[in-house]
Amino acid sequence: MRLAFLLPFAAIPKISSASPTVHPSTMIVHESVAGPPAAFTQVGVVSPDEEITLRIALAQSDIVGLQEKTYAVSDPANALYGQHLTIEELAEFVKPPPATPSAVSTWLAAHGLTPTSVSPFNDVLQITLPVREANALLAADFRSFTHVPSGTRSVRTLSYAIPVALQPHIRFVHPTVAFVPPPARSRIERRASDPIPASCAFDTDPSCLQAVFGIPSAKANHSTSNVLGVAGYTDQFANTGDLAEFLSNTRPDLAGATFSVQTIDGGANDQDIFNAGIEADLDIQYTVGVASGVPVSFISVGDNTQDGISGMIDIVNSILTTPAAQRPTVLTTSYGFNEQDLPASLAVAVCNAYLQLGAVGISAIFASGDGGVGGVQPTTCTNFVPSAPGGCPFITSVGGTTNVPPHAASLFSSGGFSNYFPTPSYQAADVTAYIASIGTLYAGLYNKSGRGIPDVSAASHNIEIVWQGDVNLVDGTSCASPIFASMIALVNDRLLAAGKPVLGFLNPFLYSTTGRAAFTDVTSGNNPGCNTNGFSATTGWDPVTGLGTPNFDGLLKAVGL
Ligand SMILES: *[C@@H]1O[C@H](CO)[C@@H](O)[C@H](O)[C@H]1NC(C)=O
Ligand SMILES: *[C@@H]1O[C@H](CO)[C@@H](O)[C@H](O)[C@H]1NC(C)=O
Repeated sequence: MRLAFLLPFAAIPKISSASPTVHPSTMIVHESVAGPPAAFTQVGVVSPDEEITLRIALAQSDIVGLQEKTYAVSDPANALYGQHLTIEELAEFVKPPPATPSAVSTWLAAHGLTPTSVSPFNDVLQITLPVREANALLAADFRSFTHVPSGTRSVRTLSYAIPVALQPHIRFVHPTVAFVPPPARSRIERRASDPIPASCAFDTDPSCLQAVFGIPSAKANHSTSNVLGVAGYTDQFANTGDLAEFLSNTRPDLAGATFSVQTIDGGANDQDIFNAGIEADLDIQYTVGVASGVPVSFISVGDNTQDGISGMIDIVNSILTTPAAQRPTVLTTSYGFNEQDLPASLAVAVCNAYLQLGAVGISAIFASGDGGVGGVQPTTCTNFVPSAPGGCPFITSVGGTTNVPPHAASLFSSGGFSNYFPTPSYQAADVTAYIASIGTLYAGLYNKSGRGIPDVSAASHNIEIVWQGDVNLVDGTSCASPIFASMIALVNDRLLAAGKPVLGFLNPFLYSTTGRAAFTDVTSGNNPGCNTNGFSATTGWDPVTGLGTPNFDGLLKAVGL
């Protein structure tokens, strides 16, 4: 399966550098947008002396080759299954081709600039310069914009250019034309609760998950090399006191279990109970409290991000440079974007980043979002809004269910079809069958050739947590992602105990005949949005609950344990 990974170039008129009329230093527009999205307004000019930090994403040696290799090591039917790449092997695919760094550095040197490398494989360079010089370097017009809902200021340009000779060497420059709002976390709805669920059909705690999904309570034994990573964004902090109270209420057998904290991009670990984040508390309680005995690492991403996507690429680079023994084998993220808020260049870059995690054997798991077919959050829309980055085929997207036996969490669970990434072969038969089953319904509102999301689903309604000292019930696919990630971490523990490799990039396994047998098909419920009833869950894969909800013994059987 080859993806169109040269999207930013595809939009550009082809100009042969051999053409006598085009000098190699001729500037050519590399990316442009007509205007900022509705949520952003221009608030003025920028002082020409204001410093701006830009990242130049260089061409990579062989991303298509990396995709093929990652599929090979992740497909149970392939002889290479489980032979995850080493970091050194990964580097060969991701590092820039030999001529690229010098070509770009020569151009920058002519402007008096010396870049620094800011990615593990030197495929991203960084420069800091006054806006005046940035405008000259890139034939740009940087101005000041505000994201109105959050009040966040950003400096952006509607267009930028690079010398024509550098087109094969530069993927994109950021931040330039990308107007990306802060990531949305799940639309957690909170109710006060009695401490102990009366019934798993109404309240869910770890003991309910053990009963419903067959998750064992036995502690993992191969913990040291099997870390479960939890991504924390937007100054959400996981509170140790809330976790202790949660474990005492729901998992007294895990008393004393805790998590480690890693900070990147100026992230913090504020343990003031009044600064405990509801999302972070949920994510930690449903990893530490479900993946019994698996070491959990909370990766707190601060505001000092430069990747143009709130740290979602920075976190990957940080993990790839973490020593193997402390590197997570599973990463769960309960934040996302509406795909349309990411320019294609950035959507592809973030997908390539999570591809790298998959290549080295790390399962990247994301919540599908909570706006039904309307995106990560309920939005006003006519066309359906796929969520991101779950539309990346190398990410496992988790939707939400409610009740026992489960039906789709109709109030929120996001699902649909990407406009940037075509349907990958592992789900092609499922997507084709689903689209055939709905006929002309919603024709034109969604992309029939896009990657379908989510892949699987898990409990996401009336989940009991402790937040700022009180028991609450919360809703959202934010619950489903850590629960599913915990199950994968527990399977990895058994695999390691049996001397086998961890699961890594999951999707080819999940959609295989043996993999899908580990899921209970969810056939009721739907995901309304954009003034429609959304898609309906049905027999087989659907863009509401994916393949269904996981069964732990089924997963063990599927991996041959
Ligand atoms: C870990 O070892 C203990 C003691 O041998 C055992 O009771 C437990 O079931 C094991 N855990 C797993 C996940 O196999
Ligand atoms: C639909 O998806 C395909 C495959 O990713 C893509 O090439 C096409 O541009 C998309 N169409 C729209 C309208 O976004």
